[in-house]
Amino acid sequence: MDQLVITQEHTDPTVAAQLAAELGLPLADVIPETCRYTLTLTPDRLELRTLGKGAPGPIYVDFVEGANAHRRKFGGGRGQLLPKAAGLKGDYLPHVVDATAGLGRDAFVLASLGCQVTMIERSPIAFALLRDGLQRAQAATDVTDIAARMMLIRANATEWLGQIAPDQRPDVVVVDPMFPDRGKAALAKKEMQAFQVLIGDDLDAECLLEAALGAARRRVIVKRPRLADIISGAKPSTQIIGQSTRFDVYVRPVTHA
Ligand SMILES: C[S@@+](CC[C@H](N)C(=O)[O-])C[C@H]1O[C@@H](n2cnc3c(N)ncnc32)[C@H](O)[C@@H]1O
Repeated sequence: MDQLVITQEHTDPTVAAQLAAELGLPLADVIPETCRYTLTLTPDRLELRTLGKGAPGPIYVDFVEGANAHRRKFGGGRGQLLPKAAGLKGDYLPHVVDATAGLGRDAFVLASLGCQVTMIERSPIAFALLRDGLQRAQAATDVTDIAARMMLIRANATEWLGQIAPDQRPDVVVVDPMFPDRGKAALAKKEMQAFQVLIGDDLDAECLLEAALGAARRRVIVKRPRLADIISGAKPSTQIIGQSTRFDVYVRPVTHA
């Protein structure tokens, strides 16, 4: 991936070197001309930057301020589509596996409402950004308790869910893959283009859905653009439809194991 290098600004160079070794990316003092993106360690956070004239702003994970904080305070709480789809009701707070953690926005919504959320992410770049945001949240008084309910694992969720021990099965699995059609919508958000280019489409979503259906005790919820097709395979039990997003809900049969 010669279009991406690690850089660091006024930080301990050993930390940047460790990150470069972990991700198998070069650590650059001088950015090569072919390079379109950097993962930059600043004194405050890890940023994915797009280079060049007219480039959009950096991508980073921030659970303390910005859009995540705004949604936590004013986003509608349990009235939002996601908690409705996850089945939050009364005292019931499901244990959730977010099988496509990405930048952790959906996981943060559910953890803010009291759910324990295990986040699975396979892209090393998304994982590094999310780990950085989570570490900062753990240290910030406003959201420490929420961050304590969020656990991050780097893995392919299809494999991870396929090997889960029976007593560890989550109540709910959330699946939100990056689809080609979703990609077009995401491109409208200029700053997310780097994420789309570097991580790409999740063309194996059907296998992930199958593994999720095998692992969830109560339900699997799949996030899709409102008008998109369902993931092929099983048919959803119900759909929760918003202005631009839809959740396909797959209710699991009750088992008495
Ligand atoms: C559209 S993004 C998810 C955004 C996320 N819902 C959020 O709120 O930020 C999709 C993410 O899922 C990850 N992903 C897709 N399939 C996966 C799998 N089988 N295992 C782990 N991660 C996966 C991709 O690497 C990507 O980061």
